[in-house]
Amino acid sequence: MGKLTAAITGVNGWVPEYKLTNHELSTMVDTNDEWIVSRTGIRERRILKGKGLGASDLGANAVEGLLKKKNLKADEIDLIICATATPDMLFPSTACIIADKIKAKNAFCFDLMAACSGFLFSLSTASMYIQSGAYKKVVVVGADKMSSIVDYEDRTTCIIFGDGAGAVLLEPNEEGLGIQDAILKSDGSGRDYLNMKAGGSVNPSTYKTVDAKEHYIYQDGKTVFKFAVTNMADVSAEIMERNNLKGDDVAWLVPHQANKRIIDATARRMGVGSEKVMLNIEKYGNTTNGTIPLCLWEWEDKLSKGDNLVLAAFGGGFTWGSIYLKWAY
Ligand code: UT7
Repeated sequence: MGKLTAAITGVNGWVPEYKLTNHELSTMVDTNDEWIVSRTGIRERRILKGKGLGASDLGANAVEGLLKKKNLKADEIDLIICATATPDMLFPSTACIIADKIKAKNAFCFDLMAACSGFLFSLSTASMYIQSGAYKKVVVVGADKMSSIVDYEDRTTCIIFGDGAGAVLLEPNEEGLGIQDAILKSDGSGRDYLNMKAGGSVNPSTYKTVDAKEHYIYQDGKTVFKFAVTNMADVSAEIMERNNLKGDDVAWLVPHQANKRIIDATARRMGVGSEKVMLNIEKYGNTTNGTIPLCLWEWEDKLSKGDNLVLAAFGGGFTWGSIYLKWAY
C-alpha cells in the first residue's frame, strides 16, 4: 500500500443572492467605486439578509451542495471542521450546528479559529486525520457572515468584507496526489492591528462596549497590508523552494482574497503569471474563511488531475501560511 495522502475530492461554494455594490456603499459612507476598485479590486460583495441566519446557514448550504455533487449521504461524513471568525454563537461550535442542519449524525465536529488563515489551518489539520488512516471522509468548510461584525459607518472596513462559504471533501489517496506540504505561521503580537475588541472574556459585552462599537472589526489597514504583502509572498516563495517548484511548475495560485494588490505582489514574488491566479475578489470581496474554497469551486472545471496548486493566506492573529497540493481529479 502506498503512503496515504489527503486529497480534495470535491468542492462546493455558496453565496447569498444580495449584491452590495460599490455604488450602494457610496450612498452609505464617503467612498466611491474608483477608490475601492483601484485600492482593493472589489466591485461588489454578497450579504446574507434575513433574521436568524448565520455562518452555519452559509456553511450548511455549501456542504449540502457538496454532498449532492458527490452523491454522498450526510451520515457518511466522519468529521466536519468549520473555519470561521463569525460563529453563530461563541459556543457551541458552528460545525456542530452545520452537522445538525444537514443531519450528519456520525461526524464529530469542531471549529477552528485562525481568522483569514482558518481555511488553510483547517485543511492542514484535516489532512492529518486522513493521513493517520483513522478517518476516510472529512469535510472542511470555511463560512463567514462578515456583515454581522462590519460597521457600515466605517469606510475603511465596510468596503472590504462580504459573506460566503465554501466546502471541500478530503479523502485518502494512494497515488501521491493531494496535500504535499504546508507551512503555517502565527504571530500574536499582531493582535493590536486586526481584532474585535469586545464580546470575549477580557471585555465581555456590556451597553458600554456596544456604544463604543467594540463588537465590530477593527483594522489598522496600512499595517495589516504591510505584513500581509511581505508574509504571504515570503511563505509562498518558501513552500516553492522547499518543494523545488519554479513559477512554471505551478498551475494555479489560490490566494486568500483580501486585496488584489496583496495577491499581485504574491504572484510576482512566486514568478506566477496573472493568468494562473484565481481571482474572484471583484465579485465577493473578502469572505474571510470562504475565499479559498470559493475560488476552488469556481475554477473546478479548469483544474486537471496532477495540477500543482499553491494556496496562500494571511489574516488576523497574525496568522499566515501556504499549502502545496496536487489536484486529484
Ligand atoms: O483579510 C485580512 C487581512 N486584511 C488585509 O489584508 C487588508 C489589508 N489592508 C488593505 O487592504 C488596505 O490597507 C485598505 C484597503 C484597508 C486601505 O487601503 P490603503 O491603500 O492602505 O488606504 P489608506 O488606509 O492608506 O488610506 C488612503 C486614503 C486616506 O485618506 P488621506 O489620509 O490620504 O486623505 C483614507 O482616509 O484613502 C482614504 N480612504 C478612503 N477613501 C475613499 C480610506 N478608506 C476609503 C474609502 N473610500 N473607502
